[in-house]
Amino acid sequence: MSQQIHTTTHGPVVRIQINRPEKKNALTLAMYDAMTEALLAAEADPAVRVILFAGASNCFTAGNDLGDFLNSPPSSEDSPVFCFLKALTAAEKPVLAAVHGVAVGIGTTMLLHCDLAWAGPSARFQLPFVNLGLTPEAASSLILPQLMGHRRAAELLLLGETFDAEAALAVGLVNGLRADSELDDYALRKAEALAAKPPTAVRLTKMLMKRWPTEAIRQTMSQEGEIFIARLASPEAREAMTAFFERRQPDFSQVVDDVL
Ligand code: COA
Repeated sequence: MSQQIHTTTHGPVVRIQINRPEKKNALTLAMYDAMTEALLAAEADPAVRVILFAGASNCFTAGNDLGDFLNSPPSSEDSPVFCFLKALTAAEKPVLAAVHGVAVGIGTTMLLHCDLAWAGPSARFQLPFVNLGLTPEAASSLILPQLMGHRRAAELLLLGETFDAEAALAVGLVNGLRADSELDDYALRKAEALAAKPPTAVRLTKMLMKRWPTEAIRQTMSQEGEIFIARLASPEAREAMTAFFERRQPDFSQVVDDVL
């Protein structure tokens, strides 16, 4: 298990904490592998009833590590990021999340696959795929328009601006807001309350709610993944990510990009 993914057990609740504060909890290949391993272990363990994702140091996650995107980009549906998303979308037990601070890219899209989520006022969400020369992932191109309508989804996915916890609540991305100092305890209490309910009824209820969208989500993730992988090698993405590490604004005016 990666040092940067801490898994703790609280009775029937497994808490998976993302902990790489010096890089705003950006997710590396090893961290995705560790999160997938933790998720699959929790799913397989009959003593576990609920899975709770949390960040650390007032930060959820700044999304995929951009250095990994530049140097070791995912190349197939078996890549760690896609394996994590597959495990998350296939989870039969309830998955919850508590969001502090930045929740960028997959930090926002993974919430679309959590059953319940809460945010603190410090939360800052962003879907910066277009800004990075990339395209949506985690079936967000399907789920976001369904959740909030095309116009609002287009605002989040095309403009890629940061939005706060109130806005996340308004568009249905989180269930509620709690003070940052209380958020982790609150989410754990909710997870424990859910874990005390009859587990088969909980699992079947989740299954029934997800049975129709499941195939559409799988197909969308597969199509998104193909385009996303191609875009990672595109001149636009290279310029955007290089600019991030050079701490400058990207300049797309001279970039010629005909990737897809
Ligand atoms: N990948 C790799 N490193 C990242 C990172 C990421 N996604 N996000 C932040 N970091 C690193 C920074 O490079 C910096 O490292 P350094 O101290 O060695 O220079 C450190 O984390 C702190 O980041 P910084 O940008 O200084 O913090 P901030 O509070 O000013 O901004 C963010 C925080 C999250 C808004 C900003 O870092 C950001 O936009 N990150 C990129 C997010 C992103 O595009 N993710 C991919 C989505 S698909």
